[in-house]
Amino acid sequence: MDLTNAVPGRPDGQLQDYEAARQVSWDEEAKQFTWWKTGRVNAAFEAVDRHVEEGRGDAPAILYYDGVRDETWSFRRLRDDAAQFGDALRRLGIGRGDRVFLFMPKGPELAVALLGIIRIGAVAGPLFEAFMETAVQDRLADSGAVAVVTTPTLRPRIPRERLPELRHVILVGAEASDAEAGEWSYTELMKEASADSPVEWVDREAPMLLHYTSGSTGKPKGVVHVHNLMIHQYRVGRWVLDLRPDDIYWCTADPGWITGTSAGLFAPWLHGVPVVIRGGRFQQEGWYETVEKFGVTVWFSAPTAFRMLMAGGDELPKRYNLSSLRHVLSAGEPLNPEVFRWGLRALGNRIHDNWWMTETGCTMITNYPALPIKPGSMGRPLPGIEAAILDDQGRVLGPNQLGNLAIRAGWPGMMRAIWNNEEKYKQYFPFEGWYISGDSAYRDEDGYFWFQGRVDDVINTSGERVGPFEVESKLVEHPAVAEAGVIGKPDPVRGEIIKAFISLRQGYAPTEELKQEIQQFVRNGLAAYAMPREIEFRDKLPKTRSGKIMRRVLKAWELGLPTGDLSTMED
Ligand code: WTA
Repeated sequence: MDLTNAVPGRPDGQLQDYEAARQVSWDEEAKQFTWWKTGRVNAAFEAVDRHVEEGRGDAPAILYYDGVRDETWSFRRLRDDAAQFGDALRRLGIGRGDRVFLFMPKGPELAVALLGIIRIGAVAGPLFEAFMETAVQDRLADSGAVAVVTTPTLRPRIPRERLPELRHVILVGAEASDAEAGEWSYTELMKEASADSPVEWVDREAPMLLHYTSGSTGKPKGVVHVHNLMIHQYRVGRWVLDLRPDDIYWCTADPGWITGTSAGLFAPWLHGVPVVIRGGRFQQEGWYETVEKFGVTVWFSAPTAFRMLMAGGDELPKRYNLSSLRHVLSAGEPLNPEVFRWGLRALGNRIHDNWWMTETGCTMITNYPALPIKPGSMGRPLPGIEAAILDDQGRVLGPNQLGNLAIRAGWPGMMRAIWNNEEKYKQYFPFEGWYISGDSAYRDEDGYFWFQGRVDDVINTSGERVGPFEVESKLVEHPAVAEAGVIGKPDPVRGEIIKAFISLRQGYAPTEELKQEIQQFVRNGLAAYAMPREIEFRDKLPKTRSGKIMRRVLKAWELGLPTGDLSTMED
């Protein structure tokens, strides 16, 4: 092995012998679960109810703090509230297979609602609270959601008149009198419901989660995950997160993204480990304070957040007692070696980079406590996962050759469908037996994978995956915009920022005010993170003869690179 610049592993990780772990079948994992014996499956039951039934009901499940509320929820309380909420949904006529969305800030009620939905066999669709009207509408409409759990503040962003299938709006933090027709106060519903309501036993392959994510073309797609995902999450909890019963775990991701549900809630709960939930916005001091306050032992965040902490300097963390930290992880974007080295200095820990996607369900390639880390590498495949680099014809490439990062299809946490879109689903599997990620990477002689970039036009800004088409569609709704092309532009803190190239309609002048107005238009209509931080007006945009805007040409212009083959470009 060439470990010249590698940072040695720790001897105490649960995964000690990587080669031996690769021989452990997924069925071994499944044996942890009650359904191994009973044949009756429900992921919410395994994550929460099981601990109560096995005598661990008093153990903490949630440690919540938002500056005002400071609450510890036991597994029993969480089970009871989730069961009660499930019963409330049933009383509204909601059940198996129905899509119920969550559009609210993170906190105990979000967790209760998520579990309650899954517990009755319905499908939970978590939405990020930063979404504005168009983003909310597109997702609810596509999935045919029958209900949404939200707050009075966020309710105006749900265009009910344009969502005929949406029968119920459940308002957390509202009085019964605030509720209009088709709306319910969460508190009132809970009062009438019973915690004795039974778990809905479903098939392992029954859908439970619908996470919307972006591709390079078309509207966001609904990635369908099934109860079987728990097997994958359990293994990640053990070998990747390295969780043990006395850990205090904090994943900073919002449950609107897969990281927030899969690594954020299910992986730790399946191991009976409590999760810290910090309400409110990112704040350097607040984050160190949270680690100190709860004695966080295992911490999962993202490169953008670490880069923002790093920008606060090496002195700031010294003011806090961070000695509880035993294991630190990062996912969502490339982790720069510089940030890794900051982690060693400021947190006294190696930051364990791990790679995965909404579609993969949970971690796929990762660094383990016991293995040496090569800074800049995503690590090695999770035991049970076969990763490879394929060329464009689907041939497996050897070490150090750049190509498509692919995974042998059929692992337990793999998405099972794209909601209502068989065609899109098939596009992930162009070669027999392989899932194609859309990322380019290479593998070195030692089996470590190195991320290189996206193959398509998907933008990763602050770890958030943005489809250029969704932003372009919003931009052209603005009266001044004739055409728009959107690309990701490299940025030292955010990874990438969104840059829009715009041609204006006749009669509009390319002014600074107009730029700002267009930015606000996207911010208010779609989401703050989807706003183009840079706008450049152009008389004409490069297009194919069939009229498609050529984003790769825009990108080449931006980066000062050769534009490549322009034979399909219009004159
Ligand atoms: C990127 C987030 C480099 C990648 C869990 C992937 C990463 C996309 C890493 C999925 C990493 C995720 N290093 N890039 N460790 N992890 N990505 O669906 O481009 O929001 O395809 O899932 O994020 O983003 P998604």
